[in-house]
Amino acid sequence: MGYAGRLRLGVNIDHVATVRNARGSAYPDPVRAARLAEEAGADGITAHLREDRRHISDADIENLMAALRLPLNLEMAATEEMQRIALRHRPHAVCIVPERREERTTEGGLDVAREENRLAHFIAPLAAAGCRVSIFVAADRRQIEAAHRIGAAVVELHTGAYCDAHAEGDVAARDAELARLTEMAAFAHDLGLEVHAGHGLTYDTVQPIAALPQVMELNIGHFLIGEAIFRGLGPAIAEMRRLMDAARA
Ligand code: PXP
Repeated sequence: MGYAGRLRLGVNIDHVATVRNARGSAYPDPVRAARLAEEAGADGITAHLREDRRHISDADIENLMAALRLPLNLEMAATEEMQRIALRHRPHAVCIVPERREERTTEGGLDVAREENRLAHFIAPLAAAGCRVSIFVAADRRQIEAAHRIGAAVVELHTGAYCDAHAEGDVAARDAELARLTEMAAFAHDLGLEVHAGHGLTYDTVQPIAALPQVMELNIGHFLIGEAIFRGLGPAIAEMRRLMDAARA
């Protein structure tokens, strides 16, 4: 199977809402951030509606769905409440993520293998409603196989361990994580899954991941919103886009 299209950038705007909620104000507005992201070269907008609503709110999802021309990737836990919300809005994509400690594997992705049956039933109506279902998993063969068996269209590979190792200056661990991501991106692609990646990516860590030919989309948030303080959101995103394209070329 070949690789299609250019590498997409999904900009996660959760932490615009984090700043807003810190003061209980109406600003900064995540929808305004999403519009700027679109102008700056984002291919999609990602937002995580957490069970505790610590950043993105129900109204944000409503407003994003109404205002956006870009596809929305709704990240959410596999709960009945979130399923109802997703079925009401029918975003372009739904990415199932762990929220509680006991749902996590040691690497931080969703433990799909542990609750394969429940998750298969959970995602079926979302897929039937036209949402592209993605599962956020560690770069782990068992989890990827389980995501495939339950009928997910996409796996998003968790890059957190790779980014942490880089930040700690542990070159051997970073290279080992990168090797795992490289191998598992190919493995997932060979199973017929579309491969995305994200979590913790920065200007310093994005290029080796962007260079993986099977990876079709990166979802990046926290670093970009932080960087926006210094250079503005549009330029912060444009620089990420430039680095991704350069790595891919
Ligand atoms: N991908 C997934 C599935 C996530 O849950 C997150 C964080 O919400 C991201 C990507 C983006 O991570 P970061 O904000 O560290 O760039």
